[in-house]
Amino acid sequence: MAFKGGDLLSEKAAGDGHGESSSYFDGWKAYDMNPFDLRHNCGGVIQMGLAENQLTVDLVEEWSKNHPEASIGTAEGASQFKRIANFQDYHGLPEFREAMAQFMGQVRGRKATFDPDRVVMSGGATGAQETLAFCLANPGEAFLVPTPYYPAFDRDCCWRSGIKLLPIECHSFNDFRLTEEALVSAYDAARRQGICVKGILITNPSNPLGTTTDRGTLAMLATFATEHRIHLVCDEIYAGSVFAKPEYVSIAEVIERDVPCCNRDLIHIVYSLSKDFGLPGFRVGIIYSYNDAVVACARRMSSFGLVSSQTQYFLARMLSDEEFIGRFLEESTRRLAARHERFTSGLREVGIGCLRGNAGLFTWMDLRGMLREKTPEAELELWRVIIHKVKLNVSPGTSFHCREPGWFRVCHANMDDETMEVALDRIRVFVRQHQRRDKAERWAAKGHLRLSLPRHGAAASSSSSPYLALSSPLSLLSPQSPMVHAAS
Ligand SMILES: Cc1ncc(COP(=O)(O)O)c(C=O)c1O
Repeated sequence: MAFKGGDLLSEKAAGDGHGESSSYFDGWKAYDMNPFDLRHNCGGVIQMGLAENQLTVDLVEEWSKNHPEASIGTAEGASQFKRIANFQDYHGLPEFREAMAQFMGQVRGRKATFDPDRVVMSGGATGAQETLAFCLANPGEAFLVPTPYYPAFDRDCCWRSGIKLLPIECHSFNDFRLTEEALVSAYDAARRQGICVKGILITNPSNPLGTTTDRGTLAMLATFATEHRIHLVCDEIYAGSVFAKPEYVSIAEVIERDVPCCNRDLIHIVYSLSKDFGLPGFRVGIIYSYNDAVVACARRMSSFGLVSSQTQYFLARMLSDEEFIGRFLEESTRRLAARHERFTSGLREVGIGCLRGNAGLFTWMDLRGMLREKTPEAELELWRVIIHKVKLNVSPGTSFHCREPGWFRVCHANMDDETMEVALDRIRVFVRQHQRRDKAERWAAKGHLRLSLPRHGAAASSSSSPYLALSSPLSLLSPQSPMVHAAS
């Protein structure tokens, strides 16, 4: 514990379970110290490490303006002030649970139904994950998680509850799809080490892959969970952010239609309004469990992370406006698809490939060809260049426990169109520089020229340096570029 007085804390509090001191926060620090701003600091670091949806905020804002009665602090809503301000029942406002259950069905194309009595509130999906870990496993017991996975699961599931997360290794040769062989292999390996496996945790759609899990895989997971009497937790936080085929399939639909013999006591869904609605500040998370005991226990625990009654009240009104929600989801899909297409086609122009994605707020970008060697160290070296020279805060695959170096998650829905174009420009300049340098190196290797070229990260900026330095992409722009003016 780096803080003064840390030795007076509990072991868990003083430990590093939060992960904030990990080197992966370097990118965030670089951004915080020099944040990009189109008008005031266009040489700054662009934040592409934040899975935030800013593409549809205007729609929610408009609804809010048109429905002042949904806020108890307005003249139109004040008649509800006393009732709502006094409300603190941890079951949640009945109208909120009702609206949430119907919304969860609407987002999943009405292919599954949700019972309001099974909706348990939590402080975002973060709180929901922690509550489930606490309810389902004892310290030292484990959940299996397909890689790559959302890094904060380590904090959410392990820090306070003391459970372990064990990877199920997935690979690029089959687009990181989870197979039964990989699952069985991880399960058997854990058992051989004497670790009690209590469940499987998946994210569907996947963060960081931006892909959806197919029906067959979900059925396989539900069957495996039933046969081995272990839990299946499905984080469906991006369920409403699927913008292309194949169509989204929720575990709720699979257990209703495809695996009727599934033991439903083992199935739990995590959802939140942070992503699909772009409302992470509202801290609205949901546990939807098919297990009565889990619902009861999680509900008692929800006292630690209740959603404010004003927020519940506002959302009850907005989510039950089915006409608005229908329009919102349609428009959100259209905007996400357009953003994804623009970003990935911009990358394609310079030969950068991405995993084919159909969901989420990010792209899983393949920079394996730019690595000095196929090692995690080389990936981090390249990452540091991207942060400090290209000035983009992207996230390296190793932070998602990806075993294959060279993959990066790039978020593209947390910015406006102009900022995204600047980010694309920077990537293109960087990649072209790299390609030119590679070509020169190959040429030199053939004996045409004696050149000594550094790889990423090797500092060589002096003009007298014998190295051909990897310069900032800003330096390759024309002197008229607004980016150059701002950077200087
Ligand atoms: C898969 C996944 N689960 C949970 C969370 C946390 O969401 P919330 O803001 O609702 O706590 C995130 C946020 O990035 C996420 O990607």
